[in-house]
Amino acid sequence: MLPQLFTPNLGRLIGAGLLACSLVTLSACSKNGDTASSESTADIPQSATEYTPENLEKDVPLADKAKPESGVDYHSFANTNDYIVKHLDLDLTADFDNKVLKGEAILDIKRLTQKTPPLILDTRDLDVTAVRAGVGNSLQEVKFSLGKKDPHLGTPLKINLPAGANKVAIQYQTSPDASGVQWLEPQQTAGKKHPFLFTQAQAIHARSFIPLQDSPQVRVTYKATIRTPKELLAVMSANNDPETEKDGVYEFDMPQPIPSYLIAIGIGNLEFKPMGERTGVYAEPELLAASAKEFEDTESMLEVTEENYGPYRWDRYDLLILPPSFPFGGMENPRLSFITPTVIAGDKSLVALIAHELAHSWSGNLVTNASWRDLWLNEGFTTYLTNRIMQFVYGDERYKMEMALGYDDLQADLDDREDKDEIMAIDMRGRDPDEVFSNIPYEKGSLFLYELEQKVGRENFDNFLMEYFNHFAFQSITTEDFVKYLDDTLLKQYPDKLDRARIQQWIFEPGIPEGAPHPQSDAFSKIDPLRKQWLNGEITASDIDTNGWTFHQWKYFLDGMPEKLSADQLQELDSSFHLTQGKNNEVAFSWLMIAVRNDYAPANARLEDFLISIGRNKFVRPLYRAMMENGKEDEAKRIFEKAKPGYHPLTVKVNSKIIYGD
Ligand code: BES
Ligand code: ZN
Repeated sequence: MLPQLFTPNLGRLIGAGLLACSLVTLSACSKNGDTASSESTADIPQSATEYTPENLEKDVPLADKAKPESGVDYHSFANTNDYIVKHLDLDLTADFDNKVLKGEAILDIKRLTQKTPPLILDTRDLDVTAVRAGVGNSLQEVKFSLGKKDPHLGTPLKINLPAGANKVAIQYQTSPDASGVQWLEPQQTAGKKHPFLFTQAQAIHARSFIPLQDSPQVRVTYKATIRTPKELLAVMSANNDPETEKDGVYEFDMPQPIPSYLIAIGIGNLEFKPMGERTGVYAEPELLAASAKEFEDTESMLEVTEENYGPYRWDRYDLLILPPSFPFGGMENPRLSFITPTVIAGDKSLVALIAHELAHSWSGNLVTNASWRDLWLNEGFTTYLTNRIMQFVYGDERYKMEMALGYDDLQADLDDREDKDEIMAIDMRGRDPDEVFSNIPYEKGSLFLYELEQKVGRENFDNFLMEYFNHFAFQSITTEDFVKYLDDTLLKQYPDKLDRARIQQWIFEPGIPEGAPHPQSDAFSKIDPLRKQWLNGEITASDIDTNGWTFHQWKYFLDGMPEKLSADQLQELDSSFHLTQGKNNEVAFSWLMIAVRNDYAPANARLEDFLISIGRNKFVRPLYRAMMENGKEDEAKRIFEKAKPGYHPLTVKVNSKIIYGD
């Protein structure tokens, strides 16, 4: 349940001319707040939805309303109706001994009201030592206070501003346990000699390393100076210079405005290798050549995406290969996607991840979800684009397999979830975005777009997407903005092919609408009868001709096995296909899930090694869950405690819940 102090960010409502409420007055969002001046609205993306003051009933906390308000960010304390941060100047020193980032964040703020209410920023576990504020360069020390800590949202920082102030300088340091920063010991890196640091801000962790308005509705440009031990290199979601000398002081500039969840820092013994004219890879030297080879098609991916969906607007596109504790497969930090090394399979079988992070340069980084309820606008569009990029670069068969696997992932999640969580525009009020994460925004979103494509024709749909990215470039939009845009475009153009009720159903109702497309692949259909014959004992595993099977086919073969297999069957599969020793992490994961469900002891050592060496939640979470559900609680606890010192804070958080409950 939400605490009383909870203050959703009402910026967009104010943009539509509504009343504001501030942290101090918010036992309820009352009508006594300040009114936004009309000249200020240009800075705030306008919502397509008509809002009236009656939408906010007096004394009803927003979190208790039957439905979430479109355009409200329930995950930020920031009073974006009073101020908008436009630019950030960061100067941070990475102190690896104490595991803290220490320095100053200077925010350029634009005032949206006539008065000077306190500025409220998002923070989490920051130690704020001093705040100065004022106009231009004449800043004076001002009073500040930290509010009550909310378990999901962190702590609001309230700053008293002098009249007319347009700059705020905050001196602070992060906590060694900052939720968005991982400090790695040399042992956890490929080279084992140097420490490593990386940040992961999405969804609401930027506030754990920078005090700011941590809402996807606010875009900032930024400049940064990052100070590191001399032998290490710092990179950021900004203009990395491939030629940079390692000297321990690194300057960055991000001239395009980006939301806070895309601010990112990586520090380590990094080197650069170009892959193409605009693309390259940063990695530890031990991984550099293999990474550049594995991801050598990145430049082609970039070119086909531009051809079909409009110009790439971010200058360079580089990859940063992280240590395996990175809790995700990838993160679309602009100009520099952060990538898990667990996808370097040696055969490019897992490079859809790169297509995915690259696609976010359009869907997400250019056109951004206005709140975490609208995440499907980022991830659903990106998943759709990923499949298309894979088709452009690798052809139809690969495309169909990727699509079919995505569909199966969606089915699995639908089987697992409550109805309310199957809705694309999901109600996130009072919830931790890290806990709500699922395939629904990704795969249901993508399937919805695929249906639209099928109905209006591919070329028309591609044109629509190109226009959409252009129309909303550098804006943050709500689900309702998108629906309105559909109304004005495709629905008008193709009234006989599309219907509004069905669009509502896709977005606001659970499950997959009847008659939705069901992507399938011939390469998979051939596998079904073989699996069946083997399960029936009609053929042996060695009778199955697996020659030339791609990872997709292995995954399909294994994921389609029944819950329970006999000891003999497990042994036969393993001795025929050497699954326990398998090198492809996705296939290894599918096999380990089978092993856990069926108590297959010969895989125990690999399972332990896998869980200790990899922190990617897509793998780790289902494995711990399966262990807990299959009578292996003690083993799960033992391995988790052993692995924990090496896990990212997010991996610790979500898996502690599974293992120890709330
Ligand atoms: N932006 C996401 C990661 C993310 C989402 C972090 C929500 C925090 C909150 C990233 O682009 C992503 O989707 N990664 C996937 C890639 C996969 C679907 C190809 C991953 O990490 O598995
Ligand atoms: Zn994504």
